[in-house]
Formats: sequence, C-alpha cells, structure tokens
Amino acid sequence: MGANAIPSPGTRWRRALVAGALGALGVTTALSVPVPADAAASTLGAAAAQSGRYFGTAISAGKLGDSAYTTIANREFNMVTAENEMKIDATEPNQNQFNFTNADRIYNWAVQNGKQVRGHTLAWYSQQPGWMQSLSGSALRQAMINHINGVMAHYKGKIPYWDVVNEAFDDSTGGRRDSNLQRTGNDWIEVAFRTARAADPAAKLCYNDYNIDNWSWAKTQGVYNMVKDFKSRGVPIDCVGLQGHFNSGSPYPSNYRTTLQNFAALGVDVAITELDVEGASATTYANIVNDCLAVSRCVGITVWGVRDSDSWRSSQTPLLFDGNGNKKAAYTSVLNALNSATPNPTPTPTPTPTPTPT
Ligand code: G3I
Repeated sequence: MGANAIPSPGTRWRRALVAGALGALGVTTALSVPVPADAAASTLGAAAAQSGRYFGTAISAGKLGDSAYTTIANREFNMVTAENEMKIDATEPNQNQFNFTNADRIYNWAVQNGKQVRGHTLAWYSQQPGWMQSLSGSALRQAMINHINGVMAHYKGKIPYWDVVNEAFDDSTGGRRDSNLQRTGNDWIEVAFRTARAADPAAKLCYNDYNIDNWSWAKTQGVYNMVKDFKSRGVPIDCVGLQGHFNSGSPYPSNYRTTLQNFAALGVDVAITELDVEGASATTYANIVNDCLAVSRCVGITVWGVRDSDSWRSSQTPLLFDGNGNKKAAYTSVLNALNSATPNPTPTPTPTPTPTPT
C-alpha cells in the first residue's frame, strides 16, 4: 500500500508478524500481534490514512501546470474535489452536450497519482448554465434527471462519493432555499437521490451544505430532519457533507462534534468537505480534526484549496499553506492531531494458535 493509499476500515489496525521460537523444540513460527499504528506520518494523507480516513483538497484544472501547486497537492493529499470543473455549467454547457474535458483532467491527475475523487456537484441552484437557468417546471425537473444520469454515467464506478444535492436549505429559516429547482416541487431532492442511486449504485450519495455546523442553528436542524426523513422512508442517502467555511460570521462552534455525531447516528457517513478557517487558527484547525476523529463515521476532511493564494477567500488566509507554499502553524497542528488518532475502530486482538509439538 503506497503512502497515499487509503486503507479500508478492516486494515485500520496494523499487524506485525513476530517470529517466535518454540524454545526447546527449536520450532520457529509466526505470531500475529497487533501493534499501534506508526507514530508519525509526515503528510496529511498518510496521517489520516492511519485511522482509515482521507485528507483531501479542492483542485483547480487551471493550476495543474503550476509545479509548486501540484508538488504540494500530490505530496499531501489523497482525496481530490474539482473546485468548479464537475459543476453543472462546466459539464453540460449546452443542453444534452456534455463536456468532461476539465473534469477529466482533474480526475486523471488524481488517479494517476493514487488519489480518489469526490464528485461535486450534480444538482445546485448556483453555477447552472444559462439554458438551465431559463427552465422551470417539468422541463427543469427532467433536465436535472438527465444531467445526473449523464455525469454519473461518465464516471460510473469511479467516484466513491458524490455531492448529489448542494446547498438546498435557506440560511435563516431552516426551510428550503427558494430556487428554480425547489419550485419544481418539494420532492426534487429525493428524486435527485433516487436518480443518482440508479445511475451508479456503487457511489455513496451525499447531501452537502454550509452553515450546518452549529447544532443549535435552524439550518442544521432543517437538514438533519430531511436526512432523518429520507432514512425512515428509504430514500437513498449515504452521507452528509459539512462544508466547513468558518469565519467571523460563521465561527467554528463548540458543539461541532455533537452535530457530526448526531448526523452519523442517523446511519450516514459524515465528511468535512470544503474546510477553510478565516485566519487559520492552529487551535481551531486541531479542534476540527479532533472532532472528526472522535466520530467513527467521519470518513475524511477536505480543505478548499492548497495555498492561501488558491483560496476563493484568499484575503482571509484560511488554508494550511501560505502563498509561497510554506507550511503554516495550522498545518502542523492538523498533522499532529491526525498522528495522534487511535486506530478506529479499536480491534479485538486475535491470538494465533500455538502449534502443538508432536
Ligand atoms: O474561469 C473564469 C475566468 O475565465 C474569468 O476570467 C473569471 C472572471 O470572474 O471567472 C472565472 O470563473 C470563476 C471561477 O470561480 C473560477 O475561478 C467564477 O467567476 C467564480 O464564480 C467561481 O467561483 C467559484 C464558486 O464556487 C462559484 O459558486 C469558486 O472558485 C469556488 O471555490 C466556489 O466553491 C463553492 C463550492 O462549490 C460550494 N460551496 C461554497 C464554495 C465557495 O463559494
């Protein structure tokens, strides 16, 4: 398994073969003994892999020619999200004419470098191409279904997690966000998820949003209730992505771990999908990582860009590398937190039977 590879949960606990001598008989055998994971991995991806998680970043196709950028991205991360290239306007610029040129550039760069790819995103009120913005009613509903089918067919079996629906809830009321998709009928989200399940049964299907971090916020409750309802009615949903854009208006909340736990308790994976923290406090970053590590169904963390200069909010210097590619204090605190993770779940050691001398 390479340094960037992501172990399955079953390999979270490493086993060492210990040669043992059967004393007087001089028989040599092998004992399988659990030993703790290596003390200190030196990259974010390898450190996260020790507990069966991934550590990812958003990648922009336009920067794949920047060797300073790709060197850091390739070294540190084992999961990739296309920052814009798999969105609706990029993949279906004209109705029924799909274009995967830039999406595939990112996908191929990722897999050629041993990384996985999170799909982002299939149904969203924003970054719709002009033709979709002008649709409504059943024509829009059918266009949404057709888009999900077209994109998921292209990547069938290749994308472990898809953000099927993005940002469908209102910031203040906790109800649905008004949008052309919402106006096609309240069932548009479950139709999107059912369509996605049929299109690629191997993909885990996620609902992704921001400002659903604080357990006491109405938006968090609104999304929680939707996921609970979907699970109770058998609507296919496998994961919730908490974007994690933290700043003075939406600060990291002290009940974040409670939120992650409560979503996970509904029977879905949770992931932090677009993390950035205004000012990049090392303490806040460590707290966020530790919250994920405390929840067994928190499968991984993705930061929304490589260097501060790559961030959509670059003036907030919210990422783990500065504009020159230097590791920031937050990088070290994240790496240390990941390295402190205990294997998850804690296994029960199974002793190897000692051969009976004849
Ligand atoms: O590529 C064009 C370029 O040719 C043109 O000259 C320039 C002029 O403005 O625009 C460029 O496109 C911009 C694109 O980013 C690439 O930089 C778009 O205008 C701009 O709208 C787009 O912003 C993206 C934003 O989503 C759009 O909603 C950000 O990069 C991207 O980081 C951001 O990501 C979102 C997630 O998808 C969902 N959650 C929130 C997150 C942050 O807003």
